[in-house]
Amino acid sequence: MSLAQHEITRVAVLASGEGSNLQAILDVVHKKHGVEVVCVVSDKLGARALERATEAGVPTAIFPVAEFEDRRARDMAIASHLRDMRTDLVVLAGYMAILSEEFIGAFFGRIINVHPSLLPKYPGLRAIEQAIEAGENHTGVTVHYVDEGVDTGDVIAQEVIGIAPGETAEQVAERIHEIEHQLLPEVIAQIAASRNG
Ligand code: GRF
Repeated sequence: MSLAQHEITRVAVLASGEGSNLQAILDVVHKKHGVEVVCVVSDKLGARALERATEAGVPTAIFPVAEFEDRRARDMAIASHLRDMRTDLVVLAGYMAILSEEFIGAFFGRIINVHPSLLPKYPGLRAIEQAIEAGENHTGVTVHYVDEGVDTGDVIAQEVIGIAPGETAEQVAERIHEIEHQLLPEVIAQIAASRNG
């Protein structure tokens, strides 16, 4: 007779700033749905995301690029830390640094990102502003696997929102965030469910 396996998907979240998506992950899937956030990593000292992790009792680590020879060396140090934490899934939640090819290669197929547009439209920075400036009447949120390009990996989930005439980027961003905060935890739970079978 064999006992049922209850595996946990060990998640590392990388975040550079506010960390509202991290908060959603902590609130919705941490220690539930077969998911545990085992560490939060930032490239920025003083990122609000780090406080949110600490408040939730999740260990944090900071890797400012200035402390390393170059970006590649920094990313190798992050990869080594994530391996030490036995990370199964890397979630980029407002992580603003581009990851080196070596890092992507080390975790390929196990890195996801949330982006505030309907990719492949409007990759990169200022995605909401780009959509408004282009006169779009809708935009949305994408959760996707990360490859070596900027916001180019395979799409996992998308959700569309309308842009009303005259709406400002701040107004659209507020609604985008609400969707991100549902979609990203949902995708993490789905990935955990499919891994943990
Ligand atoms: C989000 O809008 C996400 O789509 C983008 O960066 C932002 C991060 O926000 N990649 P927060 O730090 O999670 O509040």
